[in-house]
Amino acid sequence: MKDQIQSLASLSGPFPPFDLDAACDGPCDLFSVWLREAIEAGVKEPHAMVLSTVDDSGAPDARVLILKNLDHRGWHFATTDAGPKGQQIAANPYVALTFYWQPLGRQVRIRGIALRAPEAERGRDFRRRSAAARAVALVGRQSEILASRRELDLAVETQARRIVETPDIAAPNWSLFMVMPHQVEFWQGNPDRLHQRLRYRKAKSGWLREPLWP
Ligand SMILES: Cc1cc2nc3c(=O)[nH]c(=O)nc-3n(C[C@H](O)[C@H](O)[C@H](O)COP(=O)(O)O)c2cc1C
Repeated sequence: MKDQIQSLASLSGPFPPFDLDAACDGPCDLFSVWLREAIEAGVKEPHAMVLSTVDDSGAPDARVLILKNLDHRGWHFATTDAGPKGQQIAANPYVALTFYWQPLGRQVRIRGIALRAPEAERGRDFRRRSAAARAVALVGRQSEILASRRELDLAVETQARRIVETPDIAAPNWSLFMVMPHQVEFWQGNPDRLHQRLRYRKAKSGWLREPLWP
C-alpha cells in the first residue's frame, strides 16, 4: 500500500492564478468568487465541506456536511442537533470549516462560532428537504448504534406515513447553524510548491489581510 500511496500525484496543476493584491476586502466576497469558479470548473459537490468540532474532553471531531447558504451571518449548514456534532457545538460553539476544490488546487479554511438560526428559518429549511430526507430526520436517531437494518426501515416508514398525514410537520431537533467567521484563509496550490496563502483576520477596524508563507 505504501508504494501505491507514495506514487500518487498531488497538486500537479495547472491551476488558476491568484492575485493576492487584487483580492476582495472581505472573506465572504472572495469565498463567493472562488465557489462560483469551482462550480464553473465542474468541481463535483463544491458545496461539501468538513466541519470540525471539539468534544467535552477537548478531542477534535470532524465530518463532511453540505453548505446551505452564505450571507452576512456566515456559512450555513443544516443537521439534527441531537447527535454528537450538535452536542459538541452546544458545549463549545468554536468550529472550523474546510473546503477543498481539487481541480483548482484550492483550499479554504474558516474558523468561527456556530450560532443557531431562528426557529422559523429552521422550519423553512426542513420543509424544503425531500420527503425521504425529512423522514430520516424525523426518526432523529443519527449516530446512535443501529441494531438492525429492519429497525431503521420500519422507523423511516412510520415517519414517511406521518409526513403524508401532516405534510407541515418539522423534526424537533432539526437545526440550521450559521458559522460567523473570525478567521478565513484562502490557499492556492502551485505545482512549483510556492503556494499562495491569504488570511483574513477580524479586527476592531475590519478585516486584516495577511499573506502567509507557504
Ligand atoms: C457528501 C456528504 C454530505 C453530508 N451532508 C450532511 C449534512 O448536510 N448534514 C448532516 O447532518 N450530515 C451530513 N453528512 C453526514 C455527516 O458526515 C455525518 O456522518 C453525520 O452528520 C453524523 O455526524 P456526527 O455523528 O458527528 O453528529 C454528509 C456526509 C457526506 C459524505
